[in-house]
Amino acid sequence: MEANPRRVEHQQTDKGYVPVYTTAVVEQPWDNYSADDHATWSTLYQRQRELLVGRACQEFLDAQDEMGMSEHMIPRFDQLNEVLGAATGWTLVGVEGLLPELDFFDHLANRRFPVTWWIRRPEQIDYIAEPDLFHDLFGHVPLLMNPVFADYMAAYGRGGVKAHAIGPDALQNLTRLYWYTVEFGLINTAEGLRIYGAGIVSSKGESLYSLESAAPNRIGFDLERIMRTRYRIDTFQKSYFVIDGFEQLMAATEPDFTPIYARLADAEHLPAGEVQAGDTVFQRGSGEGWADGGDV
Ligand code: PHE
Ligand code: FE
Repeated sequence: MEANPRRVEHQQTDKGYVPVYTTAVVEQPWDNYSADDHATWSTLYQRQRELLVGRACQEFLDAQDEMGMSEHMIPRFDQLNEVLGAATGWTLVGVEGLLPELDFFDHLANRRFPVTWWIRRPEQIDYIAEPDLFHDLFGHVPLLMNPVFADYMAAYGRGGVKAHAIGPDALQNLTRLYWYTVEFGLINTAEGLRIYGAGIVSSKGESLYSLESAAPNRIGFDLERIMRTRYRIDTFQKSYFVIDGFEQLMAATEPDFTPIYARLADAEHLPAGEVQAGDTVFQRGSGEGWADGGDV
């Protein structure tokens, strides 16, 4: 059987063909997943679970089990929603891919998490540039079972709507916070550093690199520091930020960001890989193998 084709259309522009994403919520076409699709899920699930025991935070691993995710087949959104809804009031909605910022924020603010319904093709097992079902579902969804993290995500959505109204600089500050927490966050536990960021747990290479490589910096969470820090979209991160717990994250992000955005408007942006005076340094990275340039 053929793997699911992407349903994204392309439009010809003066920059060539660009994808046109549908912002609509779509029903997960579960019966149409092919044997290849389920096999891709199964391969990735088994591989990452094995790697993540002792590397991802326990809340993440336990939540996957509680939700009934397993290597056997691609989970059904409607089944996950029964468990998730009862736990924290979140609902998964199917989408074709990345959404415009405001649509995304509006979903989060209303406790709806958009999940890309299609899964990568077998030849993309190790790397895919855009989020697919595996990244969204395996990576992001489990922590929505945690009441504190679930509240953080909804608050982020409300904050996004606000930042969008303030302007592009505010939005950039907020996006960096998302990047260095929701996507690439580390958490300090009694057993040592653990991963909670979805961009890390859905990647074999970065699951190892983020925790065990001598190259990257590992720095204590600091809201304004993070909001000023550029990041990488095409390589592993040069710096990871470490929270003490989800309560710290929630407490630090509770205040109104409006005065912070105003203050940071004139502040210098920081390179992705530089340790600053005042950083709490868990590890000063060796910088080995880093690409020059390319910070976003
Ligand atoms: N307190 C933030 C604001 O005023 C909202 C927010 C909460 C943003 C949590 C991100 C995460 O914008
Ligand atoms: Fe993501």
